[in-house]
Amino acid sequence: MAVVEFQNVTKTYPLYHHLHAGLKGFIFNLPSALKGLNSGFTALKDLSFKINEGESVAFIGRNGAGKSTTLSLIAGVIRPTKGQVMVSKRVSPLLELGGGFHHELTGRENIQLNGVLLGLTRRQVAEKLDEIVAFAELGEFIDQPIRSYSTGMIARLGFSVVAHLEPELLLIDEVLAVGDASFQKKCIAKMKQFRDQGVSVVMVSHNAPDIEMLCSRVIWIENHQIVGDGPTSLILPKYLESMK
Ligand SMILES: Nc1ncnc2c1ncn2[C@@H]1O[C@H](COP(=O)(O)OP(=O)(O)OP(=O)(O)O)[C@@H](O)[C@H]1O
Ligand SMILES: [Mg+2]
Repeated sequence: MAVVEFQNVTKTYPLYHHLHAGLKGFIFNLPSALKGLNSGFTALKDLSFKINEGESVAFIGRNGAGKSTTLSLIAGVIRPTKGQVMVSKRVSPLLELGGGFHHELTGRENIQLNGVLLGLTRRQVAEKLDEIVAFAELGEFIDQPIRSYSTGMIARLGFSVVAHLEPELLLIDEVLAVGDASFQKKCIAKMKQFRDQGVSVVMVSHNAPDIEMLCSRVIWIENHQIVGDGPTSLILPKYLESMK
């Protein structure tokens, strides 16, 4: 059964985000600028793929290729401009850092808030609270507002929350990269455990060893389109070769 299916998905952002040359450049290049205004900026062009239940898939590609846009579409944070996005499982997204967190609330309060936002009852969250706090290893900072956290500390909290609230479809965008070595090790062990339990995992990473360890399939996005989709052992070396 497909847990995620993209049918000819295109995502266009309005051009005003892309006035690279500023207003002056816009006016001097008015004909082409106006043409761009109609079409917008295409972050993803005609993507079609299917991810089946229990698969672990990594999206790879250069900066700006469209990987995070793809995960945001799966998470339902943004909508496609054209085409269909179908998701048949409850999504546990770990996208931009601290995305789901409230900066004035403490770590502990954010766990409670996120648990409820991810579809659990207060009681279910309360039962998991100690485990989540222990896994995050934030010491006394767990009772401090998260505006006082470092990047890695926010990642610890975020990973602990999604990892302990029974994910069905886990979305992870480059969060492992900001954790220290010991936390990365713990995260990878947890993700292996999910994979073995049949949880579907979709991740974005620039770290080849992590991808090899966790994902059997890789989808390579280049210039906002899929240029490779298949076994990690086949696609990843081609991508790495293209980066040389
Ligand atoms: N909210 C937005 N408004 C306008 N353009 C955007 C927006 N978000 C992303 N883009 C553009 O869409 C393209 C794809 O961005 P995306 O964040 O998906 O790339 P990525 O593959 O995740 O890159 P990275 O490896 O750097 O994280 C980029 O050119 C980016 O500038
Ligand atoms: Mg990204």
